[in-house]
Amino acid sequence: MKKIMLVFGTRPEAIKMAPLILEFKKNPFKFETKVCVTGQHKEMLEQVLDFFSVVPDYNLNIMKPQQDLYDVTSNVMSGLREVFQKEKPDYVLVHGDTTTCMAASLAAFYQQIKVVHVEAGLRTNNIYSPWPEEINRQITSRIAMYHFAPTELSKNNLLRENIAETIIDITGNTVIDALLIAQDIIKSNLEVENEIQAIVAEMGYDVKRLDSEKKMVLITGHRRENFGQGFMNICNAIKKLSQNYPSIDFVYPMHLNPNVRNAIDSVFPDFTKIANLFFIEPLEYREFVYLMSKSYLILTDSGGVQEEAPSLGKPVLVMRDTTERPEAVIAGTVKLVGSDTNKIFEETSRLIENKINYVEACKAINPYGDGKACERIVANEIFVK
Ligand code: UD1
Ligand code: UDP
Repeated sequence: MKKIMLVFGTRPEAIKMAPLILEFKKNPFKFETKVCVTGQHKEMLEQVLDFFSVVPDYNLNIMKPQQDLYDVTSNVMSGLREVFQKEKPDYVLVHGDTTTCMAASLAAFYQQIKVVHVEAGLRTNNIYSPWPEEINRQITSRIAMYHFAPTELSKNNLLRENIAETIIDITGNTVIDALLIAQDIIKSNLEVENEIQAIVAEMGYDVKRLDSEKKMVLITGHRRENFGQGFMNICNAIKKLSQNYPSIDFVYPMHLNPNVRNAIDSVFPDFTKIANLFFIEPLEYREFVYLMSKSYLILTDSGGVQEEAPSLGKPVLVMRDTTERPEAVIAGTVKLVGSDTNKIFEETSRLIENKINYVEACKAINPYGDGKACERIVANEIFVK
């Protein structure tokens, strides 16, 4: 029997680790599965844990308002010292590129616990974009004894860094496992759809406004490297779009980071007065997946959304200068537009006005997975050694 501990702390890690927890728990005679959340996020993490019915064994509860990178790193490290000393897991599984991921890897390494990296090998090779994620994931790659890479390209990135092929497995991204779980629930019956519509309406957007004529652009944004001028530019692009396309709805479920809220407040001091602009609170995963499926296109700087949208056949304009997820860009459904107001406006207009461009960008493709990533990870022979 191997003791597995999954450690994560933010919304996207929870979405991508929850199906893996469920998969490990299907094998109680093979694995003792423990879950430790750092609480780097609070409300946004809880939303995901509730949706997947995951009850953590430990919650370090480290989040504080306006936390900086020192706070997160040091609190995760010191919190995990005791958890690891007490539980002595055989394997610690971390995910992706957050500061929780990097600090948990280092904390496990300090007790010589084996670290396994899920969503390994994504790279821009620009240490300031995304910041600090590029260095977070590179540090974790140095420490990990095994790497679950989502795609061939991410495996190749690891090979280029002299990581042995024998300790890399291509599994697909667990985000597609999560997406399929959510879609199955959404499509299970009409009552669920009615319930979702009522919840989203309660939060400020009535999906029933949408029909074959009425389109909706879904927006998310939260990257640290966009804070300041980048975010102001993004907000100004949204303003210009909403003014130029009054018949289109623009819906932005806002991240709870105060840096995001402050930029929105300064560009839209009274956004409730703009009829086609809807700034709403962060949605639960099920509701957000439903809104993605109802959208015309998505404007985002999110990593997870870049992976989910192509599966749903939705074009994505990425408000960043780099991406570690080139697969959908190569396939033509995702385009990098940076954080320049005019460029965001022009590229969005092009997809709104040019049907040929739009249809081309709507190809449903699955470069990131087939929904069986968790099965492959749990079946990997490292866990039986
Ligand atoms: C973090 C990750 C980023 C990931 C993102 C996903 C790092 C350095 N950043 O960025 O890689 O893409 O999560 O969303 O690991 N807050 C709340 N409630 C919450 C969540 C956040 O109030 O549930 C507020 C708090 O004031 C908190 C602030 O947001 O201090 C920033 O949270 P933090 O995790 O440091 O940064 P994110 O921008 O969320
Ligand atoms: N998401 C969500 N509710 C929202 C916005 C996003 O559940 O209101 C989901 C989205 O489907 C994706 C994940 O959150 O799976 C992305 O999280 P985020 O953009 O915060 O982080 P990133 O992926 O950029 O690290």
